[in-house]
Amino acid sequence: MTEAPPPDAPELAGRRVLLGLTGGIACYKAAELCRLLVKAGAQVRVAMTEAACRFITPLTMQALSGQPVFVSQWDARPNNHMAHIELGREAELLLVAPASADFIAQIAQGRAGELLALLCLARPDGVPLLLAPAMNRQMWQHPATQRNVRQCAADGAQVLGVASGAQACGEIGDGRMLEPEDLLHAVTAALAPKSLAGLRVLISAGPTFEALDPVRGITNLSSGKMGFAIARAAFEAGAQVQLVAGPVSLPTPYGVQRSDVTSALDMHAAVMERAQEADIFISTAAVADWRPAQKAAQKIKKDGSGATPALQFVENPDILAAVARSPRAAEGKLYCVGFAAESENLLDNAAAKRQRKGVPLLAANIGAATFGRDDNALLLVDEHGAQQLPHASKRRLAQLLIAEIARRLPGAASA
Ligand code: C5P
Repeated sequence: MTEAPPPDAPELAGRRVLLGLTGGIACYKAAELCRLLVKAGAQVRVAMTEAACRFITPLTMQALSGQPVFVSQWDARPNNHMAHIELGREAELLLVAPASADFIAQIAQGRAGELLALLCLARPDGVPLLLAPAMNRQMWQHPATQRNVRQCAADGAQVLGVASGAQACGEIGDGRMLEPEDLLHAVTAALAPKSLAGLRVLISAGPTFEALDPVRGITNLSSGKMGFAIARAAFEAGAQVQLVAGPVSLPTPYGVQRSDVTSALDMHAAVMERAQEADIFISTAAVADWRPAQKAAQKIKKDGSGATPALQFVENPDILAAVARSPRAAEGKLYCVGFAAESENLLDNAAAKRQRKGVPLLAANIGAATFGRDDNALLLVDEHGAQQLPHASKRRLAQLLIAEIARRLPGAASA
């Protein structure tokens, strides 16, 4: 058994977030969002519009944030008696969730009729403004709303969502606010250092499933957690992320484009196509080495004689090695990172595997000990030798790995 990892510091420890609520039924989700932000270590200040107070009370938000809540720009509580300037000065990020159609229209026009709009207008340079719209689908689709959303984005706001689905009014369509968990991820992404800004990262993750017949197949125990955590960390670092995932039941990390595949051959095709337009490929998938030579069209039946089926296998393509041999990689335009799950002699096996696959960087771990767990330890092997990353959560390790990859990229300042 691997030891329990040291507790990671809370994700947003000490980060100062101003959470704004405007009038909409999604205010009930803002309460959960506030709780998630506080749980992640953020210091959350809440500002609400008068309309928001019709849906949820300031007292609820005060109890969840542990801080006084502000509604009026005439509130004399902040030190300099200027709530709009003081609250904005304190914040590292403003998130308005839910952002109503009316509020988005105000922001698009640069109006400052109430405290929250005023805070958005008066925020210091460099403080990101995130808007999470929530409204009826027809309000969302209206050309005026779409024009206002485009204007807000052009003025530098980040518009989060919207999601599609059932609405409180009984209709179905676009206009739902993103889920609190996704909004939390958007906040961590907005506050993270951008070590991969503008780069395109391709990640393979999870197991593959090789069908024997319509109901059976061979697979392995990979949970996909490490690859999904790396996808999230790469997005936070500013990359455009494509995730090719084998059969796993993990939610898609916020901001990541996911393609689901089943077999190694499917994964090979999906990865080779996307690798043409990637700057970095991180191969975390546990690809089955072999697949049945034939897939039976119908379920293979016992015949009662006690005879067992004679299964024949053929080798699957080595996806990582194929990408590493591709012209883009050979020209130095695609940086490839492999993973290795070993059961012994971690360093020697990892170093040999790095050579064999032809990749500049390989991350190795003790295989069976990490499958399905939320923590891990990684040994990074490159041309200079080995570097141990500490035993930590896969989330934390993913962030460290992304920083290590960024540092090693050709042309990186510290490479
Ligand atoms: O050879 P081995 O499976 O130990 O290598 C592990 C590394 O190679 C991982 O990065 C894995 O994603 C990749 N791999 C692959 N295609 C295969 C087998 C492994 O991309 N068929």
